[in-house]
Amino acid sequence: ERLPALLAAMPKAELHIHIEGSLEPEMIFALAQRNGVALPYADVEALRRAYAFTDLQSFLDIYYAGASVLLYEQDFYDMARAYLLRAAQDNVVHAEIFFDPQTHTARGVAMETVVNGLYRATQDAQAELGTSSSLILCFLRHLSEEDAFATLEQAQPFLDRIIGVGLDSSEVGNPPEKFARVFARCGELGLHRVAHAGEEGPAAYIWSALDVLKVERIDHGVQAIQDPALMRRLAEERIALTVCPLSNLKLCVFPELAQHNIRQLLDAGLAATVNSDDPAYFGGYLNQNFTELFAAVPELTSQHAWQLAHNSFAASFVPDEQRRAWQ
Ligand code: HPA
Ligand code: ZN
Repeated sequence: ERLPALLAAMPKAELHIHIEGSLEPEMIFALAQRNGVALPYADVEALRRAYAFTDLQSFLDIYYAGASVLLYEQDFYDMARAYLLRAAQDNVVHAEIFFDPQTHTARGVAMETVVNGLYRATQDAQAELGTSSSLILCFLRHLSEEDAFATLEQAQPFLDRIIGVGLDSSEVGNPPEKFARVFARCGELGLHRVAHAGEEGPAAYIWSALDVLKVERIDHGVQAIQDPALMRRLAEERIALTVCPLSNLKLCVFPELAQHNIRQLLDAGLAATVNSDDPAYFGGYLNQNFTELFAAVPELTSQHAWQLAHNSFAASFVPDEQRRAWQ
């Protein structure tokens, strides 16, 4: 074990966490019972046994099934509350939390129900834990741009509770260009913009996320390594990558953690950060991502640890005043 005390103790920001991916199997079953939702798994153990993923899609199928137990505002509150309590234990002092409203509105859950439950949990975490957090609405890229526009319309009354928009779900075959117009509209509305790109998809999707969607950060982005010109651009413009080591391992983006490329990204001057993505599904919350990564990649030093924590604050969407207080 290398540097575990430093990695655990250092204050950090988490910038890539899907709140539906923080739903633990125990909570899935508790909510299924509370809400009278039938699950295609006999018990918690059977559900956990299904968490053997071969790629992104094999994960997404189970992740959307798990989210089907969320019906009421209190369900969304309880889920976000549990994540924020767990994150505080990992010395996460700020979190920018993705949510997937289309997963819920497609089942007849109102946008208001989703946003109110999540937002109330963020407010309580500020008051009770001192953890700051904000919400980023993600569009599902396997659905149409028209569907994304309808979702933005439903979110319109709540835009004061949402700091930005993202793009997630099935990457390959759903390039950023598909969402050019809705992201342009989000820019006009003053929303921050991020997108998953270069997780399984090609480096070309990172270029188009930057040039077409005008994103400020790239979620994952590890395939940038395939394209030296893109690597130079990301370094020069200090565009942050929200890298998720245990996610990459569990979805077979890298065969082993020892082969993860985060050290190459950092050493090339890219603003990489470490994040948990879907911690209930991928085997660990934020500190577990740090400790397993540093245990597997011996070239990572305390200097890299400091850089990763620094990058997480620098890449966050908090006002400059708050950022200066942290750095
Ligand atoms: N990639 C794409 N979509 C997602 C992910 C991811 O890692 N997690 C939850 N939705
Ligand atoms: Zn993700």
